[in-house]
Amino acid sequence: MAKDVIIALDFSTKEEVFNFLDLFKDEKPFVKIGMELYYAEGPEIVKEIKRRGLKIFLDLKLHDIPTTVMKAMKVLSKLDVDMTNVHAGGTVAMMEAAIKGLTREDGTRPILIAVTQLTSTDQVALENDLFINQPIDKVVMHYALNAKKAGLDGVVCSPLEAGKVHEICGDKFVTVTPGVRFADGDKGDQKRVMTPSEARKIGSDYIVVGRPITQAEDPVAAYRRCVKEFLG
Ligand code: C5P
Repeated sequence: MAKDVIIALDFSTKEEVFNFLDLFKDEKPFVKIGMELYYAEGPEIVKEIKRRGLKIFLDLKLHDIPTTVMKAMKVLSKLDVDMTNVHAGGTVAMMEAAIKGLTREDGTRPILIAVTQLTSTDQVALENDLFINQPIDKVVMHYALNAKKAGLDGVVCSPLEAGKVHEICGDKFVTVTPGVRFADGDKGDQKRVMTPSEARKIGSDYIVVGRPITQAEDPVAAYRRCVKEFLG
């Protein structure tokens, strides 16, 4: 499995995105486009970044009835992204429908991963709001197994969960982990963080890094440091 650093392009306009990407002259980083940017700029932003030869994780977290997700994924498959995702909470049937929609006529498809439980959901919200009376780590692992059962390639999870996910779902099941910070960096609003080298040791396949790179004084140097620490 390829390991890589994915830069979260958490900008709201394409001007900001391209000012940032223009800094990268020698490398073509893997980037993540989230809801804010996609809803602001539409599919054209994906096409423009693709034209620059970058790999894209389109982080739209689909969650709807299976037929709707299948049809939406069919549309997204034409954008030629490299990775996209759904909420595992949409059920195994919905995840199977997502794969069906995403698979192109030639049998290829982007990597498809699932969000298990959002890291913003804690045990109290799980019990009171979602009405799930189980320990959250058990729920996360159960949802990861559901994603595997549906044929998905992996999950988004905290780097602290990556080892356990591999233990339960196998080494080939991909873990994509945000919440990464440099040892000497600012944590921002992330509570449970790991450094790139710790994430590598615990078995993360892809780390998603936003502000430590996008807000750095020298983003290219920060990206290179991240790649060096993560890939060794
Ligand atoms: O700036 P920072 O490195 O914290 O950005 C992390 C990125 O990963 C953001 O785009 C954030 O929305 C995303 N993310 C996260 N935690 C999750 C899922 C996604 O931080 N559980």
